[in-house]
Amino acid sequence: MTAGRTALKSLSTPAFSLERVRADFPILKLEIGGKPLVYFDNAASSQMPQPVIDRLVRYQTTQHANVNRGVHFLSETATAAYEEARGKVQRFINAREDRELVFTSGTTDAINLVTHGYGRKFIGPGDEIILTTLEHHSNIVPWQMLAEDKGAKLRVAPINDAGELLVDEYEKLFNAHTKFVAVTHVSNALGTINPVKRMIAFAHARDVPVLVDGAQAVPHLAVDVQDLDCDFYAFSGHKLCGPTGIGVLYGKAAVLERMAPFKGGGDMILSVTFEKTTYNTIPHKFEAGTPPIAAAIGLGAAVDYILAIGMDAIAAHECDLLEYATAQMNRLSGVRIVGTAAQKAAVLSFMIDGVHPHDVGTLLNQEGIAVRTGHHCAQPVMRHFRVPATSRASFAFYNGMAEVDALIAGIRTVQKVFA
Ligand SMILES: Cc1ncc(COP(=O)(O)O)c(C=O)c1O
Repeated sequence: MTAGRTALKSLSTPAFSLERVRADFPILKLEIGGKPLVYFDNAASSQMPQPVIDRLVRYQTTQHANVNRGVHFLSETATAAYEEARGKVQRFINAREDRELVFTSGTTDAINLVTHGYGRKFIGPGDEIILTTLEHHSNIVPWQMLAEDKGAKLRVAPINDAGELLVDEYEKLFNAHTKFVAVTHVSNALGTINPVKRMIAFAHARDVPVLVDGAQAVPHLAVDVQDLDCDFYAFSGHKLCGPTGIGVLYGKAAVLERMAPFKGGGDMILSVTFEKTTYNTIPHKFEAGTPPIAAAIGLGAAVDYILAIGMDAIAAHECDLLEYATAQMNRLSGVRIVGTAAQKAAVLSFMIDGVHPHDVGTLLNQEGIAVRTGHHCAQPVMRHFRVPATSRASFAFYNGMAEVDALIAGIRTVQKVFA
């Protein structure tokens, strides 16, 4: 796995101890049907370490109150913790200012915020929005809904049979009608890492803003939104060892300022009369109602936890895991890896000859191994590879080589059952 980052070091960097890391995750001690859990469904949702659980407990037991509108101790404490979490996320992706971070309920919500707040205001009939074949449905359907509403058109950049974006074809899609680009940083179905920095620079040279769906990137790569120069960057807490129900939309302050609010309600206003409402400043303009306070604070703790391990150590370990798993799987006859891009994050989608992925998932589960099977909310990718579904093993920094061996043994068992 490479990602335009510093050279990856080998697994044995002294700073990274798999045993120590695994000890932080209570759920990894589970047995499923008498077999040790092998959790390879991290792209769907990752697990939560004890320090994040502890932070949630501390918040609920000593700090909980509603934020923003109280003068009492607990409300001020909760507000400070909530805003502190915003600052942690700001530093995590190196945003210029903390007001550029909007808490949402997840990546899906963040993208919908952009299609409503930006798209409905600035995209009109005949305008074109560029997506790629690699997108998750979350980065397709909201744009499709916008395009239908506004009479705009979607253009789709294709991929090759390794699952790599054809960047030349992407560049050819631009014309005078192009008004927006929405692209995934890392494909959830294949693990392909897109060359988003180059894609953003190309779009900006034509005054086209870019949203990057970073749901699958932030758990694996060091992301610097100022370096990428993206206009928007969206991700979810629950794929980053944080809680469900929390996500982040980063937007450049000047762009967020120009946008309309998405949801109306409390806290997103400065004043309300029945004649007229004036809106709050960013990011509060986009955070209507009581926000997911505990979840945001939990995300802040998750970011602290991940940064303490270090993104370089995480990337290096996951790179070793992916290389090892790829080599092991390539040795199996009757197994095909789907998605063989040169630049990949820790995802291995595969097909076993003569066995439907759902059967693969069910039989692996009997071995205690959790993989995801299905279309992974990426049906255009499945269509490209002419498969209805794949089995997907997705790795996190707390997975080890022994677990990869268990997966390979599990696949052999599946093959025996269907022989
Ligand atoms: C690339 C990508 N984008 C968006 C999403 C949607 O994330 P959420 O369901 O947390 O909103 C996912 C979830 O799997 C994803 O992998």
